[in-house]
Amino acid sequence: MEFYQRSLDAFIEAYGRFDITIDHGKGVYLYDINDKKYLDFYSGIGVNALGHDHPEYTEALCKQIHRVLHVSNYFNTVEAIKAAELVNKATGLSKTFFTNSGTEAVEGALKLARKYYYLKTNRDDSQIISLRHSFHGRSTGAVTLTGNPSYHKGFGPLISGVVYGDINDLKSVTTLVNERTSAIIVEPVQGEGGIHVCTPEFLQGLRAICDENDICLIFDEVQCGMGRTGTMMTYQRYGVYPDIVTLAKGLGAGVPIGAFVANDKVAQAMKPGDHGSTYGGNPFATSACISVVDIFEKERILENVNARSKYLFEKLEGLKAKYPCIKELRGLGLMVGIELTSEAKPVMKGLLEQGVIVVTAGLNTIRLLPPLVITDENIDEFIAVFDKVLSQV
Ligand SMILES: Cc1ncc(COP(=O)(O)O)c(C=O)c1O
Repeated sequence: MEFYQRSLDAFIEAYGRFDITIDHGKGVYLYDINDKKYLDFYSGIGVNALGHDHPEYTEALCKQIHRVLHVSNYFNTVEAIKAAELVNKATGLSKTFFTNSGTEAVEGALKLARKYYYLKTNRDDSQIISLRHSFHGRSTGAVTLTGNPSYHKGFGPLISGVVYGDINDLKSVTTLVNERTSAIIVEPVQGEGGIHVCTPEFLQGLRAICDENDICLIFDEVQCGMGRTGTMMTYQRYGVYPDIVTLAKGLGAGVPIGAFVANDKVAQAMKPGDHGSTYGGNPFATSACISVVDIFEKERILENVNARSKYLFEKLEGLKAKYPCIKELRGLGLMVGIELTSEAKPVMKGLLEQGVIVVTAGLNTIRLLPPLVITDENIDEFIAVFDKVLSQV
C-alpha cells in the first residue's frame, strides 16, 4: 500500500496500476517486494521474449555498459550496424531506422510513406488507410492511426487524412483507395484490439492493391513480430511482404528499442535531415538487439514457440470444452486471445491473486503473451490456475 500511495502521489495518473510492486524477475517468474511469486504470462505486454535475467543476454548488456552507452547518430558504432544488418535479414527488407519505442517506429513509418508520396506527386496531402480496432501507439500521429475512438477523445485535432477499413474485409479497404492514398497500415495480428488474425487472402489482397496503385504497405509488427507468432515476422508465414515494417517490444526484449524497416524502393525517399532521434539505435539498445537475435538462433526460439503454442492451444481447447464462458480461442504462436462471454478483467484479477499475470485485450478477451522461452510445465501451471479461477467466476 505504501508504494501504491507513493505512486499515486508521484506520477501523472495516466495508468490504472495494480497495488503490486515488482522487485525482480528470474526466468518466467516475477517477484514482488513481499517475495510473492508470479508466473509471467504477459512479458510486460509482449516484451520480455527471453524471460527475466537470461544469463547470456544479461552478460551482453553488462559488457556493453562498460564499453559505451551512447554516442548519437553522428557517428557509427559496430553495434548499430550489426543490429541493422540482422534486422534487415530477419525482416527480408533492406534498410533500418532505429527508434526507442513502437510508437516512434509507427510515426517514422508514417513519415516515410508520406515522403515517398510527396516525391511522387509533389503534394503534401496524402491519405492513410488504417483499420478499425487497430492499435498503433499514443503519439498524435500513431493515435490517429489507431482505429478506436476511445483513444482519440480529448486529444483533437488529430492528424488529417486518416480513414479506416475493417480487418479481413478487402472491399472495405478498396473503396477507400484514391489517388491521395499513400499507405495502408495493418497489424497482421491485431493485439490490443482483441487478438484478431488477418487472413492470408486479406494480406495478399492488400499487397495487390498497393502494387497496382504504388501505395506503401505498412505492417505494424510491434507486438506480433520478432518470433511471437512462430516466424520471425508474422508476414513470413504468408509470404506477403510489406514495403515497411515496424518493430519494437521483442526486438530488445526489455531494453527500449524499436525500428522501422523498409525495402529499397521506399527507403530511398528519406534523405539526411528528414528524420532523427537522439537515442535511436544507441550502442546499448542495439547490443540488446544483437544478443536477442543470437539467442533466438542458439536456443531455437522459433521452434519452441511453435511447439509450445500447439500444446497451449490443446490445453485451452480442453478448458473451452469444460467452461461455456470461454467463447472463442484466437491467435498464432504465443500471441493468444481467449474471448469470454463476459468481461475479462475479473478473470485477469482472479489470476493475479493466484500468482499468474496475464493482460486483457478489448473488453472480453484475456490475452496471453508469455516469454517465448516457456516450457510445457509452465503451461501446465498456467492451465491449472486458469481452471481454478474459471471454476470460481
Ligand atoms: C501493434 C502496436 N503498435 C504500436 C504500439 C506502440 O508501442 P509502444 O508502446 O512501444 O510505443 C503497440 C503497443 O502495444 C502495438 O501493440
